[in-house]
Amino acid sequence: MSEAKNILVTGGAGFIGSHLVDRLLAEGGWRVSVVDDFNDFYDPALKRRSAAAHAADVRYRLHEADIRDRAALEKVFGETGFDCVVHLAARAGVRPSLREPLLYCETNVTGTLNLLELARVRGVRQFVFGSSSSVYGANAKVPFSEDDPVRHPISPYAATKAAGELLCHTYAHLYGVRCVCLRFFTVYGARQRPDLAIRKFAELISRGAPVPVFGDGTTRRDYTYVDDIIAGVRAAVEYDATMFEAINLGESRTVELGELIALLEKELGREAIIDRQPPQPGDVPQTFADISKARRLLGYDPRTQIEEGIGKFVAWFNTTVKSERGTTK
Ligand SMILES: NC(=O)c1ccc[n+]([C@@H]2O[C@H](COP(=O)([O-])OP(=O)(O)OC[C@H]3O[C@@H](n4cnc5c(N)ncnc54)[C@H](O)[C@@H]3O)[C@@H](O)[C@H]2O)c1
Repeated sequence: MSEAKNILVTGGAGFIGSHLVDRLLAEGGWRVSVVDDFNDFYDPALKRRSAAAHAADVRYRLHEADIRDRAALEKVFGETGFDCVVHLAARAGVRPSLREPLLYCETNVTGTLNLLELARVRGVRQFVFGSSSSVYGANAKVPFSEDDPVRHPISPYAATKAAGELLCHTYAHLYGVRCVCLRFFTVYGARQRPDLAIRKFAELISRGAPVPVFGDGTTRRDYTYVDDIIAGVRAAVEYDATMFEAINLGESRTVELGELIALLEKELGREAIIDRQPPQPGDVPQTFADISKARRLLGYDPRTQIEEGIGKFVAWFNTTVKSERGTTK
């Protein structure tokens, strides 16, 4: 029997990170370490619940630590020789980054550099970085391809993700840390972050509260179901053909905001009360992933169309979120 491999998932108590930990533990063959600081960007109790679901597994180890804290990370890397780091810890969200650009920079840039440095010092060979479609800025050409320029971010969050990718490239080039930067396109599914549109809208529609729609509802997003994202991340953990790649992970279908709300209305069985608001600075008008590179390099093959994915999301929302609220209405 082959030895279990050691993997570090930063942000492993978060939305995407906790799904990755689920997958790795279910698969077997992995000892999974998680670094997460359980900050209050959204209710930390949600992250604690996700971490608690893994805690009983002897192959799981939780380090409550901040990626900005180099000494704390040194301790984590000192205890385990990692075969791979999947770096998902970040301050996420575009709009809050306009209010707290320094916090975003310290977490997403310095925090990423701390991890790359430790990967270099400790000889970690594989580093998967959770980047974002936001690096494309207000790209007018669709679908967004990895060959398109990413020098025009329009939010501090996007700029920090582009900077993270540049640091990854530098460490791959100088020190042989293989880096795969995955540009996630709006991810949704069970345990989705409460600040993201699908979850936020579901909450408001189900309570009969007004849904703030920024702009005229024609903004478009490529929404990616979390299981598809996890399949892409999993393939990136194994990727070994080149030292550095940036790769889109999307569904490669773009959905208008109004269309998304209609799908939620249908699944929730309730009409949305729309509250029109001016467009928000930092928001891009559209995202749309060209996923031919992911298909070619990672064998990525997303399977969940938005209609099916919203159905699954609402089923989770109805059984989990509503029952916690003590209502099934
Ligand atoms: N969800 C999406 O649609 C989406 C899209 C593009 C990119 N991403 C990226 O994917 C990654 C995961 O996103 P998510 O939606 O799961 O967000 P999330 O906020 O649920 O998860 C991030 C986790 O990182 C932790 N974290 C944040 N700062 C930390 C720090 N200083 N030290 C240690 N832990 C820290 C948080 O506590 C959280 O548990 C992020 O890097 C995000 O930028 C997400």
